[in-house]
Formats: sequence, C-alpha cells, structure tokens
Amino acid sequence: MTARPLASAQVPPSVLDVLRKSAAYLAAKGVPEARLDAELLVARALNCDRLALYLAFDRPLAETELAACRAAIRRRARREPVQHILGDQAFRALTLEVTADTLVPRPETEEVVDHVLAEVDRLMTAGVAAPALLDLGTGSGCIALAVATERPAARVTAVDQSAAALAVARRNAVRAGASVRFLQGDWYAPLEAAERFHLIVSNPPYLTPVEWEAAQPEVRDFEPRAALVGGDDGLDAYRHILEDAPARLHPGGGVVVEIGHTQGEAVAAIARRAGFDDVRRERDMEGRERAVIARGAVRGG
Ligand SMILES: C[S@@+](CC[C@H](N)C(=O)[O-])C[C@H]1O[C@@H](n2cnc3c(N)ncnc32)[C@H](O)[C@@H]1O
Repeated sequence: MTARPLASAQVPPSVLDVLRKSAAYLAAKGVPEARLDAELLVARALNCDRLALYLAFDRPLAETELAACRAAIRRRARREPVQHILGDQAFRALTLEVTADTLVPRPETEEVVDHVLAEVDRLMTAGVAAPALLDLGTGSGCIALAVATERPAARVTAVDQSAAALAVARRNAVRAGASVRFLQGDWYAPLEAAERFHLIVSNPPYLTPVEWEAAQPEVRDFEPRAALVGGDDGLDAYRHILEDAPARLHPGGGVVVEIGHTQGEAVAAIARRAGFDDVRRERDMEGRERAVIARGAVRGG
C-alpha cells in the first residue's frame, strides 16, 4: 500500500498518529531525516516546540490543525526545504527569515563566523576600536548580522546583487535589532571608490554547474542558482573577491572566505596570487576544509 499523507479518519488522529504517518510518508518520498522534519512541521502547525509534542502524544488534533499539518507535509514531500516551509532558520543566536530568494544559512557557515569573530577580536586587540567589516554576498544577512550582534563595535556593510535577498536581510536586521548597512550590486561595485575595510568576509557561490545538477532536490529545485554556482570551475567569485580585496583593505586587514571542501588549495593559491602572504586553511567540525583566511596583502592601504 502506498503511504498517504494523513488520510482523514473517523476518530481524530492523535499527535503520535500524525507524526508516525507523516514520517512514513516523507520517508517514502525520499526525504532525508523524515522523522525530524515531520516533528518540526507538526510542531509548527500546532504552534508548539518539538519537545512539547513528546508531552502530548495522545492529544487529538482539531480538523484545522490536521489541515495545517497536511499542507506542510505535502510541501516537504515535494522536497521543498523544511526551512522554506517554516519560514525561518536558527543561525547562532539568531532566528532568521529565509525565503526562496535566499540561501538557507548552513551550520558550517556558523563555524566560519567563529573565524570571522576571531579576526575581529585580533583587530580590536591591535587597537582598531571599531573594525569596518564587509560581507560580500550576504543572502539572508546571516554572517553580517551574527557579527553585528556578537561584536556590536564592528561597523558592518553587507552587499548582495539580489534585491530580493537584500529585502529579506533587511527584515532580518530589524528582527535582530542590528545595525548593518546594506548595498545592492556586483561585489565591490556599490562601494565608494575610496572605501576601505579591516575585514572582508564572504560565503560566495562555489558549486560547479555539474555539482549543482547533482545536488539534492532541496538545493537544486528550491534555492537560487545564482547563490550557488560560481562559474565553470566554481571559483569565479573567489577570483573577483580576492583579486580586488587588497585594494579594499586597510593595512593589517584580512579576508575570510567560506569554501567548498575540495577548494582549499585552489582558493589559497588565488589569495597568494592576489598578494596575500599569510594564507591559512581551516577545517570544520567534520574535518573538512571550510575556510580560507588571508592576511598580509602587499597592496593594503
Ligand atoms: C552562497 S550564498 C551565501 C549567502 C549567505 N552569505 C550565507 O552564508 O548563507 C551567495 C550569495 O552571493 C550573492 N551573489 C552572487 N553573485 C554575486 C555578485 N556578483 N555580487 C554580489 N552578490 C552576489 C547571491 O545572491 C547569494 O546571496
């Protein structure tokens, strides 16, 4: 028998019934982590958190609650990202709005923010009281807003070419109570000619078209391609960002970029060619290369 999403029954189904049927239905549709997603979506439909579901397994659902669960589970079964259905995603201490116009902020990017904060702290220790930070390709605003809220002394500018993504990022700034200057345009283009920063950070598009084609449906069919694909070799954005970075940095400034886990050597080489003489590669908690940190630009200032 094929799994069906929460078929109507004479007796109102309980929370546990709905969870079991939803998880089985999602699993049958190939959804990874089907039970977790069922819990997240049912909890949101019932306006409670996941833990509360476990304390209410026997509670019968009202018809309106059941309809809300059905609608959400059907969307997830079509492989729409759970964050698009929920409309938000936790990122460090923030809860960020996400839509189909923004990349869903990833856990590995939360780790990259640790490197960014370490660089901000290094600058402040060196006497830069209010470091100027530029986040290129801000998307939902996750990196810019994490820095602005966790290091309020930093002066944060965030750029994206997508007006729709920037609208989401601006709403997220209001939600976070953070002060960030948002600019629309192609990488450095919207900046004043003489503007310099102490730190340039970016999680740019870094997939090749072939990797994008092979990605999960959640990514390929629902996230913006322009947020993901970085030219034929996946490195176009690094070339743009790193080659122009030295001219945009104050002396002693640096760059932190997130990378795909196979790109460490290539991105480090681009950074060295751009004039950085102190280039470091950092791994994430899974042991995969995830960030390149570049300092010592010879053209700084
Ligand atoms: C991989 S997403 C990262 C979004 C966000 N920083 C994050 O970590 O979740 C890359 C972002 O770069 C933006 N982008 C792509 N090309 C760009 C360009 N030429 N100039 C400015 N932004 C660009 C995309 O719109 C997208 O928001």
